[in-house]
Amino acid sequence: AAWEKQVRLSSTPRRTNGFSVLVTGAAGFVGSHCSLALKKRGDGVLGLDNFNNYYDPSLKRARQNLLSKHQVFIVEGDLNDGPLLTKLFDVVPFTHVLHLAAQAGVRYAMQNPQSYISSNIAGFVNLLEVAKAANPQPSIVWASSSSVYGLNTENPFSERDRTDQPASLYAATKKAGEEIAHTYNHIYGLSLTGLRFFTVYGPWGRPDMAYFFFTKDILQGKSIDIYKTHDQKEVARDFTYIDDVVKGCLGALDTAEKSTGSGGKKKGAAQLRVYNLGNTSPVPVGRLVSILEGLLSTKAKKHVITMPRNGDVPFTHANVTLAFKDFGYKPTTDLSTGLRKFVKWYISYYGIQSKTRKESQATGESG
Ligand code: NAD
Ligand code: UGA
Repeated sequence: AAWEKQVRLSSTPRRTNGFSVLVTGAAGFVGSHCSLALKKRGDGVLGLDNFNNYYDPSLKRARQNLLSKHQVFIVEGDLNDGPLLTKLFDVVPFTHVLHLAAQAGVRYAMQNPQSYISSNIAGFVNLLEVAKAANPQPSIVWASSSSVYGLNTENPFSERDRTDQPASLYAATKKAGEEIAHTYNHIYGLSLTGLRFFTVYGPWGRPDMAYFFFTKDILQGKSIDIYKTHDQKEVARDFTYIDDVVKGCLGALDTAEKSTGSGGKKKGAAQLRVYNLGNTSPVPVGRLVSILEGLLSTKAKKHVITMPRNGDVPFTHANVTLAFKDFGYKPTTDLSTGLRKFVKWYISYYGIQSKTRKESQATGESG
């Protein structure tokens, strides 16, 4: 069928010993960037995404258009569709899976808890079931999250720090993912590498994230809410630029062990690995806002809320020594530089309507 032809074409590598990677969540923020980077270096890439409407699906379609210009095909389907996943693995001998599809976002878990269970737990298990039965068994790299550190107060966070105090259901499902991964590694010898991303931002980013809607609201002259910690300190995040995260994902894929098809009791079984992929320099949210004000040449209307947002953690801060040691991960983009690139993209993608409206009012123009 035409569909099968597209699937094969997209997933066939063009370089010698290239990978054949199934990228789940390929129409998403991180997934679209990783798919392009893999394709550009000659790997075969097939995307999977359900194009859900957690945020504006037209942005996902625009990313899909961009990918299709680079011959990356995205199959529209859900992680929980077992027969579809089995069919994909029947058609393509994937060497790797880069699993980025998930219900993301910390606060939305209070509105729709079931979507987190469905995508991040049931969907992940479904993917692992299919991968375990596949021949060859792929090596799997998947997105965990800095949120697993929860209320841990070690600073910075290292992979061995406690992860038993999640502050949101989202964090709890990401933590569950790490434990589920351990069992599939242990029993079935699947090679599994978990990446704990730290508040990733950049062009083609997620409209539900603060840096993104702060930009929108500042440009539209709307007020923005800035939350504090319980003890009235500023909340800080280890904001990490997308290109750094992409390099980390590719590094993790490149150094992933092969799945062995036999469990942890056997000699030489693949290991379960978990890495922080952060920026190593936390920035208070107030500083994020002032950088944006500078880049947009507009003062923000700040509304300070003297308590934490439900589900938020007071700070995140990555120690990335392990990722550096194992695959040379080294973040190189500071927040100002990264935000400049984001704002440039934002304005070219959405235009700068709101600002020009304000300016045109000042000059008496209409429209
Ligand atoms: P995103 O929402 O832009 O991308 C996820 C994609 O997965 C979306 O396009 C969505 O349509 C798709 N998807 C969701 N559920 C699905 C399902 N059941 N079946 C098929 N497709 C499904 O999010 P992102 O920011 O690109 O995040 C990628 C991964 O990284 C996620 O696992 C997320 O939890 C994790 N993460 C992201 C950040 C961040 O700051 N962006 C930080 C830590 C962890
Ligand atoms: C982000 C992603 O949204 C999660 O999907 C991801 O798992 C997580 O990073 C992670 O690192 O694991 P978060 O850091 O909460 O979560 O990102 P935002 O929602 O963009 O919030 C960033 C900061 O802005 C937080 O400190 C939050 O308190 C603050 N914020 C957010 C405000 O002050 N006001 C708002 O209206 C929204």
